Amino acid sequence: MNKRSTYYLVSGLSKVDGWLNPTTAHIMTTLADQQTLDGIAGDLAEIGVHYGKSFIAFANSVAPGERIFAIDVFEDQHKNVDQSGSGSRQIFLDNMNIYAPGTPLEVVQESSLDLPAIGWPRQHADSIRFFSIDGSHTREATLNDLRIAEQTTKAGAIVVVDDILSSQWQGVISGVFDYLSSGGKLVPFAVIPNKMLLAKDRRFKSKWTEFIRARYGRLISKRDVKFLDEAIDVVEDDAALMKELEVSDRAASSKRERAMAARVWRERVTYTAISLFVAWHTLAMVVAPAPSTSDLIKGLRIVLDPYLHFFKLDNQWNFFAPDVGEEGRDPFGVILRYVIKDDAGTLHRFDPDAGLNWFRPSSIWFHDWYRALLENPDDFGEEFAALFCREHAELHPVTITLFAAEQKDYGPLDRLRGKQPLDPEFVKVATVRSFECPP
Ligand SMILES: C[S@@+](CC[C@H](N)C(=O)[O-])C[C@H]1O[C@@H](n2cnc3c(N)ncnc32)[C@H](O)[C@@H]1O
Repeated sequence: MNKRSTYYLVSGLSKVDGWLNPTTAHIMTTLADQQTLDGIAGDLAEIGVHYGKSFIAFANSVAPGERIFAIDVFEDQHKNVDQSGSGSRQIFLDNMNIYAPGTPLEVVQESSLDLPAIGWPRQHADSIRFFSIDGSHTREATLNDLRIAEQTTKAGAIVVVDDILSSQWQGVISGVFDYLSSGGKLVPFAVIPNKMLLAKDRRFKSKWTEFIRARYGRLISKRDVKFLDEAIDVVEDDAALMKELEVSDRAASSKRERAMAARVWRERVTYTAISLFVAWHTLAMVVAPAPSTSDLIKGLRIVLDPYLHFFKLDNQWNFFAPDVGEEGRDPFGVILRYVIKDDAGTLHRFDPDAGLNWFRPSSIWFHDWYRALLENPDDFGEEFAALFCREHAELHPVTITLFAAEQKDYGPLDRLRGKQPLDPEFVKVATVRSFECPP
C-alpha cells in the first residue's frame, strides 16, 4: 500500500466524517494500488463524495498522468432526492488538502442523473479504472450510476457500489437487480463490508477474485455464493486488519526515521571531513612556500612534509609568483643602463628598461629599441645619447655613458632583505660607449 494511503487509513480515516468501514477502506485502497502494480492505467471517479471519506481512500493511488473525478451535488442539495448524506465541497476540498494534496482532482458538481444529458459518460468512455458509486441511493439513481460506470470504465476496472445490502436503502439492491437483469455487463465478484465489488468483465472477475482470495483469504466467510446468476465471495469485517496496518506503519516509520537519522549523520560527517580537508590543504599550501625561518613553520613542516611530497605540492613561492625580482629583466639577460654626468661633475644613473610598464604595448617598442641600441651602438648610439640628454635637460648633462647591464640571480630572500634587482651586487655592467651631450 502506498505511504500516503497508509497514513490516511491509519491517521485520517477516523477524523473525516462520513460512512466507510475501515476494512472496506483497506480493500478499496489495496485494489486501486494493485491496478497500478498490474499496469492497469486510467482515471478514478466517485459519485457521492460527501466529505471525501471513501474518495480519499483511493485518491492517493492516482498514478502520473491519471485524473480523479469527484461527482456530487454538494451544496445543490435540492437535487439530492433521497437525502443520502449531504455533500460539502469546501469540507471535501479541505480534507483533500490534508490527506491527498496535489492530487489531479476534477470536481463535477452535478447530479449523476444529469451526467448523460451533459455528455459526461460519452466524453469519458472507456477511460476509468476505479469507479465508486455512493451518491443517491434510489433505485433509479443506482441503475443510472451503474450504466455510467459501465460506459466509462475500461478493461481491468473495478466498480464499487455502496450500501448494497443496507436495509435502510433498498433502492440500491433494487437498482443493481435492474441493472443486471437488463443486460448490464459489469460482473459482481465480491461483497465486502457494506459494498459490492464488480469487475469490468468475466476475465477480470477471475483476476480480482483470485486477488481478494490471496490477499484477504482469512476474511472470506463464504466463497462462490450465488447472487442472481453470479458466484461471489463474501468478505467480512476484521478489526485486526487495521491493527496490522498500524503496526507495519509504525515499523516502517521507525525504519524511515532511522534511515533519515543515518542520512543526517552521513551528511554531517561528509561536511566535516571535507571542511577538515580544505583547512588542511589550505594550511599546506600556505606553509609550503613560506621560508622555513620560524619555529612555527618548522614544526608545521614536520606534519605537512609527507603530504606535500607525496602529492608533489612542495612548491616554493616563485612557483606562485614566478616574476618576483624579474621585473624589467630582459629575457636575453642584458638591459640598457646609462649614466649622465652633469656640469657639476655629479653622476646620475638611469635604467630605462626597468621603468617600462609591461601592461602598455609601447613598452615592447621601447624595449626593442634599447636592445637595438645595445647591439649596434655605432649605428644608433649618437641619436639615443642626444635623446636621453634632452630628456634630462634639467640636469644640465655634459656627457652620457651607455652600459649593458647583465642581471645576476635575484630571489625572494633578496627581496625580503630589501634589495632591488638592479642593485650593483646583482648586476654585471659593461661599458658600451660614451658621448658628449649636445649643447
Ligand atoms: C452517502 S453520502 C456519500 C458518502 C461518502 N462517499 C463517504 O465516504 O462518506 C452521499 C453523497 O451523495 C451526494 N448525492 C446525493 N444525490 C446525488 C446525485 N444525484 N448525484 C450526485 N451526488 C449525489 C450527496 O450530496 C452526498 O454527499
